[in-house]
Amino acid sequence: YEEVDEREKAPHYEQRKWEEEQMSSAVFRFGARDAKEKRIKDEGKDYDLVLDDQIEFIQALTLPGTKDEKDDEEKLSETQKKRLTLEETRRSLPIFPFKEDLIQAVKDHQVLIIDGETGSGKTTQIPQYLYDAGFTKDKKKIGCTQPRRVAAMSVAARVAEEMSVKLGNEVGYSIRFEDCTSERTIIKYMTDGTLHREFLSEPDLQSYSVMIIDEAHERTLHTDILFGLVKDIARFRPDLKLLISSATLDAQKFSDFFDEAPIFRIRGRCFPVDIYYTKAPEADYIDACVVSILQIHATQSLGDILVFLTGQEEIETCQELLQERVRRLGSKIKELIILPVYSNLPSDMQAKIFLPTPPGARKVVLATNIAETSLTIDNIIYVIDPGFCKQNNFNSRTGMESLIVVPISKASANQRAGRAGRVAAGKCFRLYTAWAYQHELEENTIPEIQRINLGNAVLTLKALGINDLVHFDFLDPPPHETLVLALEQLYALGALNHHGELTKLGRRMAEFPVDPMMGKMLLASEKYKCSEEILTISAMLSVNGAIFYRPKDKIIHADTARKNFFAVGGDHLTLMNVYNQWAETDFSTQWCYENFIQHRSMKRARDVREQLAGLMERVEIELVSNPTETANIRKAITAGYFYHVARLSKGGHYKTVKHQQTVTIHPNSSMFEDLPRWVLYHELVFTTKEFMRTVSEIESKWLLEVAPHYYKPRELEDSTNKKMPKQVGKSRAELGDH
Ligand code: CDP
Ligand code: MG
Repeated sequence: YEEVDEREKAPHYEQRKWEEEQMSSAVFRFGARDAKEKRIKDEGKDYDLVLDDQIEFIQALTLPGTKDEKDDEEKLSETQKKRLTLEETRRSLPIFPFKEDLIQAVKDHQVLIIDGETGSGKTTQIPQYLYDAGFTKDKKKIGCTQPRRVAAMSVAARVAEEMSVKLGNEVGYSIRFEDCTSERTIIKYMTDGTLHREFLSEPDLQSYSVMIIDEAHERTLHTDILFGLVKDIARFRPDLKLLISSATLDAQKFSDFFDEAPIFRIRGRCFPVDIYYTKAPEADYIDACVVSILQIHATQSLGDILVFLTGQEEIETCQELLQERVRRLGSKIKELIILPVYSNLPSDMQAKIFLPTPPGARKVVLATNIAETSLTIDNIIYVIDPGFCKQNNFNSRTGMESLIVVPISKASANQRAGRAGRVAAGKCFRLYTAWAYQHELEENTIPEIQRINLGNAVLTLKALGINDLVHFDFLDPPPHETLVLALEQLYALGALNHHGELTKLGRRMAEFPVDPMMGKMLLASEKYKCSEEILTISAMLSVNGAIFYRPKDKIIHADTARKNFFAVGGDHLTLMNVYNQWAETDFSTQWCYENFIQHRSMKRARDVREQLAGLMERVEIELVSNPTETANIRKAITAGYFYHVARLSKGGHYKTVKHQQTVTIHPNSSMFEDLPRWVLYHELVFTTKEFMRTVSEIESKWLLEVAPHYYKPRELEDSTNKKMPKQVGKSRAELGDH
């Protein structure tokens, strides 16, 4: 690596906004690629590694660390060798020396802001310290919220292990559709959304003595709303202790919000991290990741690598590419253990990322944003940061929601880099230029509340009796239009009356921990006598992992298998088909395997279905089945999702009915070649364009039947009733989604 003056800007960079660049699900293009072929710097070691497409980094700056360790490498191998016992590990955490002070501070103050580096032990230790200090004595619980499911589960498992109890007994977790707690539970980890829902049954949080709002800096929608709710509760319950714990510089802001609550700072260990930037923008960051991983593996001393990718699909692609390359290199390189981490990863796989790396080998963890602050993986020395994350975005003008890949913020980039400096001095390789970092990244990530649909949140707040949302105590208020739109949508769904009060239907909808549209669909199934079918469809839609498995080397087989499930009427019924056929085989794993169906996703769908069935019972909807009444099933779906309707226009494109946005059927859809006149979609995904995912054919007159107050007959007029010509010659590749 060349050492370059930090002030030197990356040369010849075509100045363009990242968002404007072309993008596909796996590949994001920005700037012209400099097609230089570079060889790995041969440090006299016996690697014969010739990488075809070598990227080049320049070192730009070093993130300041608190200590400068000269012999980090020795240190690292020492810790690796030593294999600390659990108890020793607990004592070695940066938070440990603060134990007594922290307990005292909690006793002295009702609200406390905790500010400490990621990995210092906040999440795993604080509840245990408070337990030791007797905060659970009168049968009250210590609660701790996490923005992410995986974090809640894995942290609970870790704490159960540290306390030598069975997970689900004294230490448990509760996440949407899964409750792993019992009567005995005194330390409870949960997602912020779960606590949100607990307010519905226990508005004063009476069963808790302490509530920790953890990872507050993540600023998820649920966490943001919890701030307002717990602040309010704290006034009524002087005995409730409130801890707001955060990893970054937001502490002052939290303190201001919570009436100048004191800030308790935990100084973490932090070694210097050298930052490297690519000389030129990278055209294909997945490929650049693979090359960088191998480059580090071949030239850098031992220490594990953490790579930040945007989602499961990308992680799998990267994993495949990397495995292929490693296989080809054979014994020329040392052992490289590749481990993925994302939110849908099954728990046995999750546990693997925490296992120590065997001597002589190197671990590479391919993770989503979850590893940015929620999960700490020890012994990471190298971080590869392509600079992107997946973000939920909502356009309040058009009412459209989409999940898109966006550049991260500077705060995020620095947080990611910091992950390399926890056990020794580290290195962070940014797959973007220093110029891009300085000029194209925002300072901070915009809080979720300001960029996503508030339908669900507003419904829950209304169900909690909070009617005046405009004056709700928000840390950062949502945009007025978004709030109004959420209210309008709930009104259109029939959840609110024209005074903005919750209706009976709305109250029933709030029972379901799902999007209001799905809630409405579930309730509408009663009228259309297809509750069993809608339950199945809802469960399948709720599994956000893929259902269909499409391995690169068996694409044709996989696609044929998928087509066998296609149902007349579209993807919703196709999903139902898959589930029903699977159920007929008595939920066989082998069947999934033979039909290219992801068994894991199906198992999850089954769990979700069970949970939803329980809730249907609570709102007293009888479970009846009419699988052949496919029009009725689709009407029930339309009753919930009438917002998501598009009409075919010229050229095989669709226009959304209300906002005339151009959208296209996703190539994976069973409707891709049919192009019915009217379609309903489950979601929009923006990759190369706005794709409708999970699409079904509907009839326009149904819209007047299920949402007469929302659609006017004139909007739905069909001037020509001719069938549109079939779309010809548009291949998957052309549509840019692989
Ligand atoms: O919350 P904070 O980021 O301050 O730290 P933590 O999550 O409590 O992590 C403290 C330590 O526990 C780290 O060294 C983690 O590696 C370890 N840990 C673990 O080994 N397994 C888990 N499932 C969670 C944490
Ligand atoms: Mg934590």
